[in-house]
Amino acid sequence: MPISTKPLTASDFVVEVAGVDLSEPQDAETIAELRTALGKHSVLVFREQSLTSEQQIEFTRHFGDLEIHLVRQYLMPEHPEIIVLSNVGADGVKPTANGGAYWHSDISYRAKPPLGSLLYGIEVPPEGGNTLFADMYGAYDTLPDDVKRKVEGRKAVHSYLERFKAMRSIDRSHKGEDKFELDEEQKKSFAPVLHPIVRTHPESGRKALFVNDGFTIGIDGMGDDEGKALLRDLNVHATREPLVYSHAWRPGDVVFWDNRSTMHCATSYDPAYTRTMHRTTIQGDTPY
Ligand code: SIN
Repeated sequence: MPISTKPLTASDFVVEVAGVDLSEPQDAETIAELRTALGKHSVLVFREQSLTSEQQIEFTRHFGDLEIHLVRQYLMPEHPEIIVLSNVGADGVKPTANGGAYWHSDISYRAKPPLGSLLYGIEVPPEGGNTLFADMYGAYDTLPDDVKRKVEGRKAVHSYLERFKAMRSIDRSHKGEDKFELDEEQKKSFAPVLHPIVRTHPESGRKALFVNDGFTIGIDGMGDDEGKALLRDLNVHATREPLVYSHAWRPGDVVFWDNRSTMHCATSYDPAYTRTMHRTTIQGDTPY
């Protein structure tokens, strides 16, 4: 059955998709339509889904091989393709206060950052705990010409280690948090990488800004202060109100986003409520 989409933002950067039960096997035509929709719109919202972990993995696999996150402490032991983002934890998985509460594109600190991610809201607070999405095509398109000239052809440095330290201090203030450290192997695999500041989306052919507050720590060939100042300006530019969609979660929502053309950021909520989400992440290519 063909899918239908309804824009949730003026620019149709986010659309709600109807006509797909993600728990069912999908035909090639539906997957092709969803792939095209993702390249065009960047964020796809599916409502009223009910998925086992196996079904979430099977659906996500239609779009590529799955990423196994290097921070193993948050992975579901029997399904390491699923990262559990929960303030109460789960069997064998550590709780996390609010893991993604900073602007980022998932795992941009790897040489081949993920194509996209699929987040399934299992238990969500009645208010707060939204996920914000920023349109990075829009961010590039609306850059002033002099800034476009400044960033075109330049690369930025992405690294996980500084973020990890910052997260550790948030976790330290979260009551009941079970602490952990990265081991030597994890630290080694988090060596900084360089990515173009402006990347071309391999499917849509559009240019998108590809830096984020969470993991981008500097600009190649620029002094530390100058690089950080430019990154701050780019982040402020990309997260201005007209470019941002705020997703208020309902249980059973699945949000599928393109990491090549968006950034996202979780927002705070009353920790008396449980917030449990399961994320699958699709491997991507080297940005160009
Ligand atoms: C994420 O950063 O992947 C999760 C965002 C959220 O928990 O809202």
